[in-house]
Amino acid sequence: MNILAIESSCDETAVAVVKDGRTVLSDAILSQADMHEIYGGVVPEIASRKHVEAIYSLADTALSQAGITKKDIDAIAVTYAPGLIGALLVGVGFAKAAALAMDLPLIPVHHIRGHIAANYIAFPDLEPPFLALVVSGGHSLIVDVQDYTKMKVMGSTRDDAAGECFDKVARVMGMGYPGGKALDALAKSGDETKYVLPRSKIDGAPLDMSFSGLKTAVLNILHNASQKGEQVDEPSLCASFQAAVSDTLVPRTMEALKQTGYKKLVIAGGVAANSRIRGDFEAATARMGAVLYAPPLSLCGDNGAMIGAQAYYEYLAGNLAGPELNAIATLSVEK
Ligand code: KG4
Ligand code: ZN
Repeated sequence: MNILAIESSCDETAVAVVKDGRTVLSDAILSQADMHEIYGGVVPEIASRKHVEAIYSLADTALSQAGITKKDIDAIAVTYAPGLIGALLVGVGFAKAAALAMDLPLIPVHHIRGHIAANYIAFPDLEPPFLALVVSGGHSLIVDVQDYTKMKVMGSTRDDAAGECFDKVARVMGMGYPGGKALDALAKSGDETKYVLPRSKIDGAPLDMSFSGLKTAVLNILHNASQKGEQVDEPSLCASFQAAVSDTLVPRTMEALKQTGYKKLVIAGGVAANSRIRGDFEAATARMGAVLYAPPLSLCGDNGAMIGAQAYYEYLAGNLAGPELNAIATLSVEK
């Protein structure tokens, strides 16, 4: 079954063709990051306009890269939640029109479920149940993936997402937007013990996370140094920051894994590309005798292939939509 999958929830327009949920025939992506960089973050109105400009030609590109034509497509899938509402609406509108015009089933896909499903592409033998940690620019959550379309949130951030925190810290250090990748690279030459940073805990909710205190602590170090005219050791501050994020994510996720009794841990989302976090999860899973599934960097960020992968399983579960489908800005991964 060939699914044409569309993703437009944030600042990447992406269209992919995925066969039977696991084989990527094409994955066309156009990032708008350059456009938003000058504003230091995504400007929703610009994102929507750029999606409109890009989506038609990207769909053509996805078909031609797959070496197929419209008549070889069996269903249309689209990210309908969560995300920037105007950005989502572009993809949803396009997908509804395509499904109607081509008389094909329409499959609505939750963006976070898509991030988790990126691992089905990378690891053809991976099947639920497993535990997933999704860490991206907008989300940080620990999910019990009981089945392809049955999920339970075990823990989540109470304030900022991990990626949001990476981006804010990187921006203040002048690394552009989104700065997580640059921060990761700079941290490699730093000493992570140089700066003492907080690891927040939430009373009564041991699996929940908080990153705003950590963000404020880093920003205070930078502001105080600039007021005193002192130099900050930026590589070491980056390394100390990354260590604090990892110390927040890894023990909670491993505790959740223990609670489920699963031996499979999946990490997903843009922050799953972080070298320190990946390394710490490799060590922690090995200690526990569990297997870590971490997608290649190309499948960590937003893409259409991950939406096509999840769409296949939503289709098998009968989760289809009609022309009444609407975009939703906020929606639990449990649905
Ligand atoms: O999953 P994603 O592409 O988009 C959302 O759905 O949010 O995640 C983007 C986030 C950004 O915050 C970006 O800075 C972060 O992932 N990111 C990283 C790294 N690469 C991307 N954060 C830390 N280390 C990295 N190597
Ligand atoms: Zn995402």
